[in-house]
Amino acid sequence: MKKKLVLLSGAGMSQESGLKTFRDMGGLWEQYDVTEVASIEAWRRNPELVMKFYNERRKQLWETQPNAGHYGIADLENDFDVEIITQNVDDLHEQAGSTKVLHLHGELRKARSTADPRLIYTLDHWELKMGDLCEKGSQLRPHIVWFGEAVPQMEQALPIVQQADIFVIVGSSLAVYPAAGLVNYTKPGIPVFVIDPESPAVQQKKVTYIREKAGKGVDLLKVELKKFR
Ligand code: APR
Repeated sequence: MKKKLVLLSGAGMSQESGLKTFRDMGGLWEQYDVTEVASIEAWRRNPELVMKFYNERRKQLWETQPNAGHYGIADLENDFDVEIITQNVDDLHEQAGSTKVLHLHGELRKARSTADPRLIYTLDHWELKMGDLCEKGSQLRPHIVWFGEAVPQMEQALPIVQQADIFVIVGSSLAVYPAAGLVNYTKPGIPVFVIDPESPAVQQKKVTYIREKAGKGVDLLKVELKKFR
């Protein structure tokens, strides 16, 4: 039986692919005001501006490839039952071959109905426009969890975390809840690894920090994991 390795990833995971993180120097939240582009209030106030922000990110994603970190994690499926819980809205884990990926904060390649959130559509073009409607005739919006909105996928994430034999965090500042609290639901005493050039704080857990970028950090993680196979 393969051990269950649960991995929580954040924006740092995709930084070496050329996608900006949020809170690092030069991050998205330095360039844009969060409350103007990533909240439900912003959508109500100025949907065109929100649409423009996500169209630009989607256009960039269309031209972006996974990095060595993504491929290294996909490789781990040879030795472990890997479940990825990502805060990222890009699909670089899936592009690299990872088979179990849960998106907590939505997916950039998808749009959903403003009248019925169950109506979710995969976009075949990077541009979503005002006037693009769902089958019920209501405006489509980016399929993203905005600040001030609930995180419905937490319901799926919790039981996955509780089953983890090994927990790994890659490229997240652990600044945003509820995602940042997931580590607290792991079984007592399991190994916890954090791959990040910085050292995001993890409460109450024995943590092994790998202070490297994702690409190199995942290689070092594989060495550490040999004893758990
Ligand atoms: N490899 C690994 N980690 C990296 C790399 C890299 N190449 N580059 C930066 N990092 C680390 C930073 O040190 C930082 O700890 O990645 C982290 C990025 O943190 P944030 O920018 O805060 O991103 P994240 O934790 O994913 O943000 C959480 O906030 O804005 C919202 O919804 C958005 O999902 C996002 C959530």
